[in-house]
Amino acid sequence: MNILITAGPTREHLDPMRFLSNCSTGKMGFAIAQAASERGHTVTLIAGPVSLATPSGVTRIDVVSAQDMLAAVQQALPHQNALIMSAAVADFRPAHQAATKLKKSEMDPVLHLEPNPDILKTIFSLKGTRIFVGFAAETGDPTAEAQRKLVSKGLDMIVANDVTAEGAGFAVDTNRVTFITANEQPRALPLQSKFAVGHAIIDWIEAHQ
Ligand code: CTP
Repeated sequence: MNILITAGPTREHLDPMRFLSNCSTGKMGFAIAQAASERGHTVTLIAGPVSLATPSGVTRIDVVSAQDMLAAVQQALPHQNALIMSAAVADFRPAHQAATKLKKSEMDPVLHLEPNPDILKTIFSLKGTRIFVGFAAETGDPTAEAQRKLVSKGLDMIVANDVTAEGAGFAVDTNRVTFITANEQPRALPLQSKFAVGHAIIDWIEAHQ
């Protein structure tokens, strides 16, 4: 299969030196890309700003902002059989982005934001028979939010996790996730490496293609 994976945070710049972002390190998405590639799939990885090596055999496209990521996904999607959106896309961006460094004296202490596009909702009309998998990283029990996002974003499966749980979340090499779909019972996986979680996601996609 051709599998498209997004990973990492996005950065929303105020000026060339300052940005809004989040805690994502890209480890989960890169682990999925490595697992998919080792299984013989053709993998395209759209990565926000992260400091990780590209898994072997994977085609990597680097992006910065949510708008860049949307454009890259739209361009790559027609050739794909599946999309895994593991990126932590920033929901808002500064309303004004300066081309040169803002001086303290000319900065407004109130940050004016505007919403970024929801990538999954924007591309839903192009889904066709493709499998779409999303992520729901929450603080606390993620089940209700994951179920809401599964439906509102038109996903086939959502990978839910509580980032405050031991061994889960950002910057660690392990994760504890639950697979939530429309028609199957939620499947809670044990705490395991992000690489093993990646293989489990690819197992699910292969079984549902
Ligand atoms: N996502 C997306 N575009 C966005 C934000 C999120 O495609 N602008 C995707 C993520 O990659 C993930 C899924 O939607 O696969 C859920 O992301 P999350 O940030 O949890 O969802 P939000 O809709 O931003 O919900 P909230 O911030 O209200 O929790």
